[in-house]
Amino acid sequence: MKVLSVASEAVPLVKTGGLADVAGALPAALAAQGVEVTTFIPGYPAVLKALGKAKAVHTWDALLGEKARLLVGKIGGYPLLVLDAPALFAREGGPYSDAAGRDWDDNWRRFAAFARAAADIAGGAVKGRSFDLVHAHDWQTGLVPAYLRLAPLKGGRAVPSVITIHNMAFQGYYPADIFPQLALPAEAWTVDGVESYGGVGFLKAGMQLADAITTVSPTYAGEIRSVEFGMGLEGLVLARSNRVHGILNGIDTAEWNPASDPHLASNYTAVKLAARAKNKRAVEQEFGLDRDDGPLFVVVSRLTWQKGMDVLETVLDHLVGIGGRLALLGSGDAEIADAFLAAAARHPGRIGVKLGYDEGLSHRLQGGGDAILIPSRFEPCGLTQLYGLAYGCVPVVSRTGGLADTVIDANPAALAAGVATGIQMNTVSHGALAMAVSRAVALYAQPAQWKRLQKNGMRADFSWGASGAAYAGLYRQLLEEQG
Ligand code: ADP
Ligand code: GLC
Repeated sequence: MKVLSVASEAVPLVKTGGLADVAGALPAALAAQGVEVTTFIPGYPAVLKALGKAKAVHTWDALLGEKARLLVGKIGGYPLLVLDAPALFAREGGPYSDAAGRDWDDNWRRFAAFARAAADIAGGAVKGRSFDLVHAHDWQTGLVPAYLRLAPLKGGRAVPSVITIHNMAFQGYYPADIFPQLALPAEAWTVDGVESYGGVGFLKAGMQLADAITTVSPTYAGEIRSVEFGMGLEGLVLARSNRVHGILNGIDTAEWNPASDPHLASNYTAVKLAARAKNKRAVEQEFGLDRDDGPLFVVVSRLTWQKGMDVLETVLDHLVGIGGRLALLGSGDAEIADAFLAAAARHPGRIGVKLGYDEGLSHRLQGGGDAILIPSRFEPCGLTQLYGLAYGCVPVVSRTGGLADTVIDANPAALAAGVATGIQMNTVSHGALAMAVSRAVALYAQPAQWKRLQKNGMRADFSWGASGAAYAGLYRQLLEEQG
């Protein structure tokens, strides 16, 4: 079976968050299931640079009005297609925003063109390349199912589609006046098509018109049926609930393995945990923290409301007061960043903050921290708790989405049964987070218990095996339905 996976980011070529990790890991995860995945991404400058001299296998004279070429390459050894459309993607900055962090105001056109191209490719526009199914990710590719269904390539092949919701909070919602420029037939302008609350909803369109909807954990798949998490699309989730599947993300265990991670000062395993200490010393040094025997909390996160970072900031005096230290790596809201910088200034030697994006440092923090704090208000899956589990960096998390599905709270029953892997809190509030931090400090003071938590996490299996099989099973089911 041949699948075209369409995403706006994928490691190692372009990443702003977990979507890239997942899109980058899918080809290997599915190869193990006998599914051949080709990844399709936009040709941002960094991607074209990494691609080098690449062959063009198709050209568009007017892809939603723009000239474009389709380039071929490899990603992690697997087939890659790249949309080279300079008018849309040859810009410095991030994939979605300029260097100052402002969203490009033509994002709807950039990703509509990308989706149109994906539908053409899936329909068979490129000689010698055919696909059985399209797997789209997030709002940026939400129009793929819409084009496939409502404006398929003339004379092309009809293929089923799956859309994965990595985050319901980002929906790609635009004013109605863009509709005429999407090159969709007039009948697409209905609630059964791309219309959403009077505008055009990219994610909504994908959810409406894909053959299956998946999201990245079973708990989140349930949560998005509610007003609180559905963010306006809960009705659609309910209406299509027999088409909604929660498939937990895995982690790339070649990239994230403490026994072989080249970013770490010292490699270690569950049976050689003592070797971890060197990494903790290295983090203390890198963040200018005092060296002591107390717990070292770490954070690797976007600094946003979703991630509960505004609440964490209010708990820092308490965290330091009970003997904790914190090393934080993050980027995002300027206001939240300023609050962390102020806390670091208030607590020299106890709190260290690095703003920015640093892949290597994210590994070093997982390999050296004692506990990773993830007080998310919602979390479709979350990957940093999985990396924490694999690295013996005990996750302290809120009980939501994928965090609820992957961390076993160290309550008395779980401790007695010897199965706990972390600490959960029921809500994201100052009080709940302060209590969770206190629980972590108390458990850390019992070395045997703490070691148990670390080992349980390190021995749990978060590789792609089961989830790769679940995606492959879903693809097969859709192909059978199609007949
Ligand atoms: P989300 O995609 O919502 O941000 P996830 O937990 O799924 O959350 O994925 C976040 C990914 O981005 C992880 O791979 C994490 O290590 C990485 N990450 C987040 N912030 C940073 C940062 N400042 N520097 C390096 N990596 C980061
Ligand atoms: C989104 C979610 C995150 C998830 C990631 C990958 O960014 O916020 O929870 O892990 O996508 O699916």
